[in-house]
Amino acid sequence: MTVSKKETNISDAKKNSSGESPRRALHLGYMYWSNGTHPAGWRYPGAEHSRAFDVDHFVGLAQRAEAAKFDFFFFGDRLATGAEYGYTNTSVIARLEPFTTAAYLATLTKTIGIVVTANPTYYEPFNLARLTASLDHVTKGRASWNVVTGADPRAAQNYSRLEHGDANFRYDRAEEFIDLVRSLWDSWEDDAFIRNKETGEFVDGSKIHAVNHDGKTFQVKGPLNVARSPQGHPVILHAGSSERSRQFAAREADVAFAGVATLTQGRQYATEIRCRATESGRDPDEISILPGLTPLVGATLAEAREIYDELNSLTILDEDVRFGGREPSAWTRGAEGLHGSSEGVPLGYRNLGSLSQRLGLDVTEESIDAVVPLEIEGRLAPAGSQLVITATQRTGRTVGLNLTWRDVLYTYVVGGHVVVGGPTEIADYIESWHAAGAADGFIIQSAFLDEQFDAFIDLVVPELRRRGLFRSEYEGSTFREHLGLTRPQSRFTLDQGIEVSS
Ligand SMILES: Cc1cc2nc3c(=O)[nH]c(=O)nc-3n(C[C@H](O)[C@H](O)[C@H](O)COP(=O)(O)O)c2cc1C
Repeated sequence: MTVSKKETNISDAKKNSSGESPRRALHLGYMYWSNGTHPAGWRYPGAEHSRAFDVDHFVGLAQRAEAAKFDFFFFGDRLATGAEYGYTNTSVIARLEPFTTAAYLATLTKTIGIVVTANPTYYEPFNLARLTASLDHVTKGRASWNVVTGADPRAAQNYSRLEHGDANFRYDRAEEFIDLVRSLWDSWEDDAFIRNKETGEFVDGSKIHAVNHDGKTFQVKGPLNVARSPQGHPVILHAGSSERSRQFAAREADVAFAGVATLTQGRQYATEIRCRATESGRDPDEISILPGLTPLVGATLAEAREIYDELNSLTILDEDVRFGGREPSAWTRGAEGLHGSSEGVPLGYRNLGSLSQRLGLDVTEESIDAVVPLEIEGRLAPAGSQLVITATQRTGRTVGLNLTWRDVLYTYVVGGHVVVGGPTEIADYIESWHAAGAADGFIIQSAFLDEQFDAFIDLVVPELRRRGLFRSEYEGSTFREHLGLTRPQSRFTLDQGIEVSS
């Protein structure tokens, strides 16, 4: 079945609360972090902290996400680990391999898309094409590959490499890699099998193609040894933020997983991706721009803020909160993961000295519980000013009145894209980004599990539906159909000018 345009494929979201129509469908994915995204999420009373290897846990969540009609359930991945993640991101310190996990999940879900993260720097194209095409068969058309160039450079040491490589090396490789994978996916035409018991013909050899790739990095003859999969091309996600990442997303991605945290950043990112997509000859409407979002949900705004404060109070700061003091190796790598920076951050970054660097203002002489004075206005670097604004939004406290340096430090340490609110405020936030063209939806993450997952599903999703923003039923059965995307024709039949109706 083919669903053509984004704005026509949503069954019950034709008008928004201001009565405008038509508009683009809102898409929601769920990204699984076994202990949530908040660095202290696992310590919250009643929160899960020990189920990363318990398949029943993520299966239960995925089934509930499917019942709530989410577009997809998403497994991130990294190819190295270290003990410091025990302080910074306990969800990534040790976890199941995503293809294995996704194949298991496929058998226990029916409609929800399933996203697996794989880094082309450390795979062979043939190997990855086989895994993804197989997963697309196993899921009956629900598979997706999240292409990342790698958050943890220590991966090189696990793959017999001297180094991780710089961004240009990794993106050059990724671009050649994905083009080759698409050729391998297409190397079997859809009707290549004859299976005629009477004549003895099993396949039509003219419909099975060698890819004969002879590129800068890869030399692959093909064809693939997996028949063309239900979606033809499994859905491509891409997560990243740099210039090369944006170029890659605009050219290659069906879903751009954006690491943006303010509406201004979101608008800029979306505009840039759509312009670059047009420049590459693509229809920009074919790309869904989905920023990651951790909604910190309470029954009311006040309750949500209490939860946020409690989580922060469980977050470990440096022993010397002015200048640091924790064993330096405790923070080095995991901190990169939290802030998405390959530059690294100062050792022992959970202190006022490190905060001062972000603010562009020395606050090391301040008492951590002192109120942030009004006089800071105009004295902060742009990133510092944004940090203070974000701290006021999350806590509801005010500069010059009751917002403290501690609140700002927690905002810095927690990082990410967090919105704190009751169902109305969270739905307002989602609706405003969507209406502004800054997002086609969000990749929802939970600060901790399961309570925060349940709160989003039980409180926010119904509110989005009440506003006519989010679907009540799936429009199709494959992941491409959830996104309003057609099934691509094989590049080998395109080359021959053959029109194939899907
Ligand atoms: C929103 C987002 C999600 C990411 N998820 C992953 C992931 O699951 N695994 C991984 O190895 N890298 C992940 N990354 C890191 C990217 O792979 C990349 O290494 C990093 O963003 C630096 O590259 P860039 O400068 O091109 O963005 C993610 C990055 C972003 C922005």
